[in-house]
Amino acid sequence: MIATLRFAPDAAGIARAAALLRSGALVAFPTETVYGLGGVATDDAAVLGIYAAKGRPSHNPLIVHVPDLAAAERLALFDDAARALARAFWPGPLTLVLPLRPDAGLSRHITAGHPTVAIRVPAHPLAQQLLRETGLPVAAPSANPSGKISPTTADHVLDGLSGRIAAVLDGGPCAVGLESTILAPGTPPRLLRPGGVPAEDLARILGQNPARPADAPLPEAPGQLASHYAPDASVRLNATDPQPGEIWVGFGPCPGAALNLSETGDLDQAAARLFDILRRADRLAGPVGRIAIAPVPLTGLGLAINDRLSRAAAPRP
Ligand code: TXA
Ligand code: MG
Repeated sequence: MIATLRFAPDAAGIARAAALLRSGALVAFPTETVYGLGGVATDDAAVLGIYAAKGRPSHNPLIVHVPDLAAAERLALFDDAARALARAFWPGPLTLVLPLRPDAGLSRHITAGHPTVAIRVPAHPLAQQLLRETGLPVAAPSANPSGKISPTTADHVLDGLSGRIAAVLDGGPCAVGLESTILAPGTPPRLLRPGGVPAEDLARILGQNPARPADAPLPEAPGQLASHYAPDASVRLNATDPQPGEIWVGFGPCPGAALNLSETGDLDQAAARLFDILRRADRLAGPVGRIAIAPVPLTGLGLAINDRLSRAAAPRP
């Protein structure tokens, strides 16, 4: 056990966070999607420490965070299509899965044996400043114990990882609230995880809809196992008729709902609130309780919201 520090989102906090990262320690930090559990991606011990702190299976590779496209091009091979995507969506909630450069210098544990590397350029100003001050690529999965709900506040991070990481940089709640979209460019481009960049926006740049390899026998993003984002309570989806004893989570007008993702039916607001509301509903329901969630449309961020909800509702291993 170590006492996990909480740093304020000011120059001193960023400097202390960067110094800890450079010394090989693990520091959670805010991005516009969710909080990441950061460790220097060229440092074997730091990267192995990330897997240990999360209890993450070693076959599930990590996303590398850099401040800009120039830094990304030192780690992965970009073709014209990948560069067009980067120019359109970076900095922002898009992760690109690209061929790893042989001279990238990353810890071999980052890619878990894959010939590709997942790269993300976050837009959050604190993440940007931290990456620039650290001056090295930073591996960062979501800062939650493996299989649990991703954190969108520093308190969420501490709930799951206090005592296991050196510090958290507290930037308040995350604006997007869902993890990044993961895309593998190519023919056809493949959407490995719906997320903060809506599929409709990708299609405008790609000139086609990305394929969803949902039916592939093995998940291509190995973290996308069916049960994930799991609360302790059981979860029932598309619930318009809450039953006695269920905690009803609404979307749009839902009179009597205990909690509501967005009273006005706004998908961006629902995304930003989703993980905090799942945590609250879980507490209200208790360990053997039941959560019922109103239908959420599949457009815009609704695709990613439904993806996370169906994982929260999936049978547990
Ligand atoms: O928004 C986000 O992406 C957040 C913030 C912190 O940046 N990070 C995040 O990381 O969600 P994580 O580890 O929770 O999810 C990363 C996903 C996993 O499902 C992993 O399997 C997949 O990315 N992944 C990583 N490297 C990959 C690769 N080379 N090929 C395919 N999938 C990969
Ligand atoms: Mg995660």
